[in-house]
Amino acid sequence: MSTLLDVRDVSKSFGGNAVVNHVSLSVEDGSSLGLVGSNGAGKTTLFRLIAGELAVDSGDILFQGRTLPPRADDRARIGIARTFQIVELFGGQTVLDHLLVALQAHQRRQGPWRDLVHGGRTTPEERAACMEILSVVGLDDRAQAPASTLPLGERRAVELARALVCGPRLLLADEPSSGLDGGETAQLISIINRVRRETGLAIVVVDHDLATVEALADHVVAMDAGSVIAHGTFAEVTTNVDVMRSWLGVTP
Ligand SMILES: Nc1ncnc2c1ncn2[C@@H]1O[C@H](COP(=O)(O)OP(=O)(O)OP(=O)(O)O)[C@@H](O)[C@H]1O
Ligand SMILES: [Mg+2]
Repeated sequence: MSTLLDVRDVSKSFGGNAVVNHVSLSVEDGSSLGLVGSNGAGKTTLFRLIAGELAVDSGDILFQGRTLPPRADDRARIGIARTFQIVELFGGQTVLDHLLVALQAHQRRQGPWRDLVHGGRTTPEERAACMEILSVVGLDDRAQAPASTLPLGERRAVELARALVCGPRLLLADEPSSGLDGGETAQLISIINRVRRETGLAIVVVDHDLATVEALADHVVAMDAGSVIAHGTFAEVTTNVDVMRSWLGVTP
């Protein structure tokens, strides 16, 4: 296995407050990393730095051995996708339309030819590609439903599908289980694991639900107040003395 993502000594402050503080971590191609830590630990900020929505103050982020381009669009184009803590889907647009819009945006990033050739219309091939992704996430029978009317578990799956149309090598999943009940969470976990099996996608997953992290992650990194305080297997990290003290609120 080779290193896909290499975060080296990255820091970010807001107003003098070190929100991400000399963080280093790496993700192997095709592997999954869980990122845990209490509210405000800096997890979402780290995702935003990796995705290019924020610029690092110091440190380097390498992807496939190369320094990343600064713009988020260019990072998406080369294979970094992200899903969000809060799902945002558009009004009456169907599930399939959400994917088509994302696919067309992705193709526009690759070059302007698409709109020149197709005048902004979708092609049968694009529709077929999006339907294929919907079937991977188990939503093919929802293609024509208005996305905003679906239950939250399925909206999360739409968001995942939308991230997949760019053919990413790395998915940053921010709290996929947030707001879901036990059954919906189990279903989303099985979808994510199926996607990983079928595409070889690597993921970094942030979640407050430890069972979700355990089910999705091969390795775990714990953050507290901007710093990495432990890394290892799920069992190693969740029994780590510093983690128990700072994050689980337990005095060992
Ligand atoms: N754009 C910003 N400007 C100023 N402060 C910010 C900004 N974004 C985040 N912060 C602060 O940085 C800290 C870390 O926030 P972040 O969202 O990364 O935490 P988190 O680990 O994702 O927390 P949660 O588990 O609640 O989602 C918080 O104190 C937050 O208020
Ligand atoms: Mg967050």
